[in-house]
Amino acid sequence: MGCLVAQAGIVACLLLLTGWKVNCQWLDPSSPYSGYQTEYSRPNADLDLHLDEPDIAPNPLGGPEQVFLSQADDVGTAFTHNTRYYYKIGSGTEEFIIFEGDFLTPPAPQPDIPFAFSIVGDLGQTYSSNITLDHLERSGGQALLNVGDFSYADGYQPRWDTWGRMVTRYTSKIPMLFTYGNHEIEFDKAVGAVEPHEGFLSANSRFSAPWKTSGAVSPIYYSCNVGPAHIISLNSYISMATYSPQFEWLQADLKKVDRSVTPWIFIITHVPWYNSYEAHYLEGEVMRTALEYTVRKHQVDAIFSGHVHAYERFRRVYLYREDHCAPLYITIGDGGNREGPAQTFQVNPQPEISAYREGSFGYGTLEIFNSSVALWKWHRNQDQKDVVADVLYLTNLHKVNCTKPAVPSWPTYAETATLQTTYCASD
Ligand SMILES: *[C@@H]1O[C@H](CO)[C@@H](O)[C@H](O)[C@H]1NC(C)=O
Ligand SMILES: *[C@@H]1O[C@H](CO)[C@@H](O)[C@H](O)[C@H]1NC(C)=O
Ligand SMILES: *[C@@H]1O[C@H](CO)[C@@H](O)[C@H](O)[C@H]1NC(C)=O
Ligand SMILES: [Fe+2]
Repeated sequence: MGCLVAQAGIVACLLLLTGWKVNCQWLDPSSPYSGYQTEYSRPNADLDLHLDEPDIAPNPLGGPEQVFLSQADDVGTAFTHNTRYYYKIGSGTEEFIIFEGDFLTPPAPQPDIPFAFSIVGDLGQTYSSNITLDHLERSGGQALLNVGDFSYADGYQPRWDTWGRMVTRYTSKIPMLFTYGNHEIEFDKAVGAVEPHEGFLSANSRFSAPWKTSGAVSPIYYSCNVGPAHIISLNSYISMATYSPQFEWLQADLKKVDRSVTPWIFIITHVPWYNSYEAHYLEGEVMRTALEYTVRKHQVDAIFSGHVHAYERFRRVYLYREDHCAPLYITIGDGGNREGPAQTFQVNPQPEISAYREGSFGYGTLEIFNSSVALWKWHRNQDQKDVVADVLYLTNLHKVNCTKPAVPSWPTYAETATLQTTYCASD
């Protein structure tokens, strides 16, 4: 059992452990992202919960706007795996402690250790989002994979803080790995944004990721090992074309994975590569065509995305054909945001490669039992209850299902034409 009394400056983020970070965020009057300095528009806010608009003046001894655990590059005290750490946030002396929390560090990467992830996307901050959070708290997940579109602040900065206050009850206890979505894009030339990753202004000022240690050249894509899994976070909103930095990094990262240590490889990225809903139909095509060959070659087990506010599970597919050596594709963008669920389909009837689709709010759990078997569950929020609606046992591609993957084949011209008729015909 570890114990740390961490001391934070009033607006400083709090440094804890090598490779780990507890971020805490207060309103900071000098920050361009603070709630009361930058006010863009405030569209569609009515559906959001009224999670207390922040006071105009920051209250230094009030609670932090957000407490959030992550893996990060920061160097601090070495930590022990599988250990519960207690932390306090305040100005140093007991009387100014304003937040106390604890969390369990994941087990050291090893092949047969059981580990459970909870997975959410497009959470937002509505009544439904808050119900999803209730269910997440009871899900048994030891780490959260967030597939993007967090707060729906859309440039209105106080909503980042209200979202932070909403999720703190979960993110202060369970570490989160994430990928950014389009609602994190706040590209503002007025504050000097030039590079693509600077298009994630508030998000980058709030969250940390282990991008340097994973060899990335930008903070918005990275990888890390958690228990028996190698998690890769790809960004859907920067180039992934051949020879782009993200593409090159992914090739190198996949080559480095040692499957005798982390037998499972999962990718999180915001925009789904396979999608039969009308919402965001074919938006992931550029990324799919750029990366699908690579991920199949390296036997990536599953790819989780959001963006479409619904659930959809595909079979193992490659080039729109069922392929037992290809990743499983799951859309889990149904966290509960104010834009409401996606319920209309572009491809009707449901295509063969889509195994389950439903436009209801919910979240997912992925329980890894050992290096061979994991269990995926989609949980629907049904009348505020947590109902498991889709269940699938996954067997490890590299170890069980596809020990010698055949070289992926390309479709013939005739097949491509058929695909285009099937998937691209509209009106
Ligand atoms: C969110 O859920 C929590 C836990 O169920 C509850 O205590 C809180 O009141 C909810 N927040 C709002 C604004 O409804
Ligand atoms: C892995 O876990 C599954 C599910 O609990 C079990 O059936 C299987 O025997 C385990 N395999 C090994 C190699 O331990
Ligand atoms: C993977 O292999 C297992 C065990 O051999 C088998 O039961 C399962 O159907 C296979 N799954 C796929 C998608 O090929
Ligand atoms: Fe999105």
